[in-house]
Amino acid sequence: MTKSQTSSPTPHKYLQEDDVSEDCKKLLSTLPKERGWVGSYVYNYQGFWALPRLIQGVIACQRQYQAQDNDIILVTAPKSGTTWLKALLFSLVNRKKYPVFEKNHPLLVKNPHDLVPLLEQDLYVDGQVPDFSLFTSPTLIATHVPFASLPKSVQNSRTKLVYLCRNPRDTFISMWQFTNNLRLDSHRDTNSIEEMFDHFCKGVGLYGPFWDHVLGYWKESIENSDKVLFLMYEEIKKQPKIQLKRLAEFLDCPFSIEEEDCRVVDEILRMCSFGNLRNLEVNVNGNMSAGMANKNFFRRGEVGDWKNYFTVEMNDRLNHIIEQKFHGSGLKFVYI
Ligand code: A3P
Repeated sequence: MTKSQTSSPTPHKYLQEDDVSEDCKKLLSTLPKERGWVGSYVYNYQGFWALPRLIQGVIACQRQYQAQDNDIILVTAPKSGTTWLKALLFSLVNRKKYPVFEKNHPLLVKNPHDLVPLLEQDLYVDGQVPDFSLFTSPTLIATHVPFASLPKSVQNSRTKLVYLCRNPRDTFISMWQFTNNLRLDSHRDTNSIEEMFDHFCKGVGLYGPFWDHVLGYWKESIENSDKVLFLMYEEIKKQPKIQLKRLAEFLDCPFSIEEEDCRVVDEILRMCSFGNLRNLEVNVNGNMSAGMANKNFFRRGEVGDWKNYFTVEMNDRLNHIIEQKFHGSGLKFVYI
């Protein structure tokens, strides 16, 4: 671990709201804005809400990213379990290069976010040109961008998309807690649950509205099942082996009988489990290259924590919205 990874976090790049180009500032001045989850404001760009620097990153990757046929992109709405899926995907697709039983596996010394970078946040945000030849093959990247706003080359190539969805109640609680922790780290006031719940219900979630984000990928996964695999956090919790094998098959790297006999599937699941990752030194004391403490990404890692926070009124309000938004889609959420 380098010195900068162990020192106390610098203010996260997320919060450097003025650190965008003049063109981006001009654009922001024309966009609808609302009180921010993390920083002062979120802006509505192409129908979704995001922070200034991330909008700059989205525009850059829409212009520049040339998806290759064997790229794999993990897509999530923030706080859906991105960290977990990044770890699972990394260990799955790189298992020949980095056998999971080896003591020096990259996941044991690096946070999953440093192994699987976010397209609009890590790779394109500051006008840099990423050198994909330095990536292990297949190239594994992540994004939070809604389906309709993905770079065109993603849709025009055979790039595979893995979408991870989590129930909206736990996603909301996780987002509220996470963003408040970032605010505290930067000596800002925290946001109340009432205010942010109202935001969430009105669709002002990060990269939201939540329902539009989920439905965009859900529909695509039905119409184009070779291209988009739709996974659910709760299903992976319940049947981890089945879901990991499903993922391996979708990515054309199924487990062999020998691997199953050698318990490779179990070992990947163990290495990527909440309990294991959370307690690694890098995730207890390390910081991401974006300046955020790794421990922020490991809170409870459970299904149903929302019950500790929701009032009856909150439950009713969200139920009503979910019924309306997901009616007829065939998508059902699990809450416990
Ligand atoms: P909670 O806040 O409910 O605990 P993201 O990675 O998209 O930012 O989502 C973070 C959420 O995933 C947090 O949820 C976090 O605790 C949980 N998480 C992180 N690592 C996990 C793992 N290995 N297994 C299950 N959940 C995990």
